[in-house]
Amino acid sequence: MLKRMRRAKPAVSPDFLRIGAPPAPPASWEEVVRAGSTGFDPAAEHARMDNPMRDAYFAQGDRLASKWTHYLDAYDRHLSRYRGKPVRLLEIGVNHGGSLQVWRRYLGPQAVIHGLDIDPRCAGVGDPGTTIHIGSQTDRALLRRIVEAMGGIDVVIDDGSHVSAHQIATFETLYPLMAPDGVYAVEDVHCSYWPAVGGGLRAPGAFMEYAKDLLDRLHARYVLDPDPEPRDPGFADVTDSIAFYDSLVVFERRPKGPARAIPVGHRMLD
Ligand SMILES: C[S@@+](CC[C@H](N)C(=O)[O-])C[C@H]1O[C@@H](n2cnc3c(N)ncnc32)[C@H](O)[C@@H]1O
Repeated sequence: MLKRMRRAKPAVSPDFLRIGAPPAPPASWEEVVRAGSTGFDPAAEHARMDNPMRDAYFAQGDRLASKWTHYLDAYDRHLSRYRGKPVRLLEIGVNHGGSLQVWRRYLGPQAVIHGLDIDPRCAGVGDPGTTIHIGSQTDRALLRRIVEAMGGIDVVIDDGSHVSAHQIATFETLYPLMAPDGVYAVEDVHCSYWPAVGGGLRAPGAFMEYAKDLLDRLHARYVLDPDPEPRDPGFADVTDSIAFYDSLVVFERRPKGPARAIPVGHRMLD
């Protein structure tokens, strides 16, 4: 596991962009989930932003799929280049099977789509051409076998247990096995703030803290610390970007060496 780096207090002033007294904290995580998933009109949500991922999602009338709608826009941003191609996608967390059908509709018939779920009942919710594996996302040997069966892997969607330790174990197993330009998404990272699933605000071991450490790793070549650990560029060398959305973190891989500045044009201030 990534060795934790020392962290000073957050640099952003809490007054930055403050709009008044913050609302009272929610009574429970269940209240947050309820508030985010009730009372919405699908047609109005669809119309709020128009892209093929929203089209694929809101056309779903068969098995249940459950995504926060702003994820759909992020997915279209990161995955549109894969549409109509033989992209290899693994979604962890199958549940009723609807999201696998949405991925098929969005990515097209050539996509190699696999799902993994710990619930054996999920074995019965697949379509022909889609493969469902039963087991835990923490089973590293199983994950490796799945990647082998898929013939490699381009996209991972982690929508499984949402337990931070599981998300980290899965990431550390699958990320190195991915195609050099692959995309790895971790959903529902608001769970990082909930003690019930191993989190809390800036809690050591929470996936969000881990992702923040990786953000430092992306800049490893600039760290002047004598400790060699935070200066290891291994992650930076294979990672192009980390995008943080509300509750969703997306890693984009890209092989790259040290960044280069190449001045062009004429000096004007000498
Ligand atoms: C939120 S649901 C998935 C929803 C689905 N991806 C969708 O978008 O509609 C989470 C699923 O993760 C599964 N799960 C829980 N713990 C798991 C684990 N350790 N490994 C794999 N799957 C797990 C649950 O059985 C459940 O079906």
